[in-house]
Amino acid sequence: MNVAPPLDAALARHYAPGDVWTRIVERLHAAGHDPATLTRDVAAQFDEFHGGGRESTRALARYVGLAPGLRVLDVGCGIGGPARTLAAEFGADVTGIDLTADFVVAARRLSALLDLADRTHFVHGSATRLPIADASVDVVWSQNMLMNVPDKTLFAAEVARVLKPGGLFAFEAVVAGTGDAYYPAFWAASPALSFLVDAEVLRTTLAAAGLVERGWLDNTTQVVELGRRRLAALHRDGPPKLDIGAIVPEQAAEKMRNGLRNNEEGRTRAIQGVYGRVG
Ligand SMILES: C[S@@+](CC[C@H](N)C(=O)[O-])C[C@H]1O[C@@H](n2cnc3c(N)ncnc32)[C@H](O)[C@@H]1O
Repeated sequence: MNVAPPLDAALARHYAPGDVWTRIVERLHAAGHDPATLTRDVAAQFDEFHGGGRESTRALARYVGLAPGLRVLDVGCGIGGPARTLAAEFGADVTGIDLTADFVVAARRLSALLDLADRTHFVHGSATRLPIADASVDVVWSQNMLMNVPDKTLFAAEVARVLKPGGLFAFEAVVAGTGDAYYPAFWAASPALSFLVDAEVLRTTLAAAGLVERGWLDNTTQVVELGRRRLAALHRDGPPKLDIGAIVPEQAAEKMRNGLRNNEEGRTRAIQGVYGRVG
């Protein structure tokens, strides 16, 4: 019998308290979209679940020089929006791993609808026990998942293990700033599911796993600007017919407001990093 550790089960409940796929289909119909004729542009309104949206996925992919045929492992892939962006726009062959089983189901169904099932594959699993062979991946990718991982040393060791020599680890994450973060946040309804660390602690942890820093960017300002635009639109027009609420059934507006306040007040910061495996 496969029993998930209590934290994994609690995180899966946080991310998928209900039936994810049914909610997506209902939201699509309510917004006037037939799931059978879904496009990636429509899906991008809810399938890139991180502060910078699809633009930050593209920017990070350009930064690491993602090219056709490269094997990418997206850890904490959610419902697969970033994986599909990397496959469709950069020609990568992407495997996504996520511990929320309902997200994996939704990721597979969306990729099938969007004709990307041959280049995006989704597996239920954990970042700290990757079901992936040693030295088999060109790029390990991860967007806004690290905040849910208490043992970042173990995760860093897994990243180093699965990367080919010369491979890259590219990530986005929310890191701790000054003062306690406000909750509920998108990544955690309360501090019990949140494991924020300072940027310098994260850097030290990755370096200790033998990963070498190639790039480090604090993009809090861009994430704040995007957050302000989204909140202004919410106040002006009311809730959009299709947005991240399609996969966040509980307190989505409050989580959005708290995410913005956390970054505005310096309680959290949004960072992107690129690390290489040398030997
Ligand atoms: C904020 S969402 C980001 C999803 C996706 N990376 C994106 O940007 O669209 C965080 C995701 O990380 C997953 N996650 C959290 N902890 C994880 C772990 N230890 N192993 C694998 N996935 C994890 C969650 O299930 C969730 O899907």
